[in-house]
Amino acid sequence: MPALFISFEGGEGSGKTTQINKLAEALTERGLKVVTTREPGGTPEGDKVRDLIVQRDGGDWSPLAETLLLFAARTMHVQKTILPALENGKVVITDRFTDSTVSYQGYGHGLNIDTIEQINSIVLDGLKPDLTFILDIDAKAGLQRSERRLASEQFGVDQTEDRFERLDISFHEKLRQGFLEIAKNDPARCHVIDATQDVEQIAQQIEGIVTDRLEVA
Ligand code: TMP
Repeated sequence: MPALFISFEGGEGSGKTTQINKLAEALTERGLKVVTTREPGGTPEGDKVRDLIVQRDGGDWSPLAETLLLFAARTMHVQKTILPALENGKVVITDRFTDSTVSYQGYGHGLNIDTIEQINSIVLDGLKPDLTFILDIDAKAGLQRSERRLASEQFGVDQTEDRFERLDISFHEKLRQGFLEIAKNDPARCHVIDATQDVEQIAQQIEGIVTDRLEVA
C-alpha cells in the first residue's frame, strides 16, 4: 500500500474539516488505509497542549513559547501517530502541521521564520508533508464562516476554542498572505485551492491531485 503524508492548511473557516472528511472517504473507497488527525492534537499529550493554545483561558503565551509548545505536541504526534501509520503503508491526512506555525506564530505574531525553521529541523529533522492543500479564502469571509460554525451546535464544536478567531482582521489577513507565501516558496508540495468554490468542486480537485500522486486513479 502506498504511504502518503498529506496536510491541510488555511485560515479560520476555510473548510478544511469538510474536505479532509471527503478525501478520507474517497480514498477509503479506493481500498486505501487512511488515518485522519489534527494539530494541535493527534495524541493525548497533544490534546493537552491544544487546550493551552486554543482555549480562551489557555494562557497568554509569547509567540516563541507558543511555538515550543506546538513543537512539543508535534514531535509526539510524529513519533506516536504519523510515522507508525506511514510505516504501515497508510495515507495520513493531518488538519494543520508546521505551515500553521510559520503562518500563525511567524507571519501572524511576528516570530522570525528562520527561528521556526531551525526549531523544525532540530525537532522533526525537517520532516514535511508530501502534499499540502492550502484552502485559500478572504480573511473576512473565512471569519464569518467560522463564527457561524462556533455559533452552531450541530457540529459539536467546542464553543470556547476561539482564542484565534477573537484576534482582529489584520491578523487574519497576515495569515492568508503567510500561507500564500509558503505555497510560493514550495510549489512542488503546496497546492493553493480556492475555498470559495462549491464544496464538491473542491473535493474533486483535491481527489484528482492525490490520486495522480498515488497513481491509483
Ligand atoms: P483549528 O481551528 O484548525 O482546529 O486550529 C486550532 C487553532 O490553533 C487555529 O486557530 C490555529 C492555531 N494553530 C497555531 O496557531 N499554530 C499551529 O502551529 C497550529 C497547528 C495551530
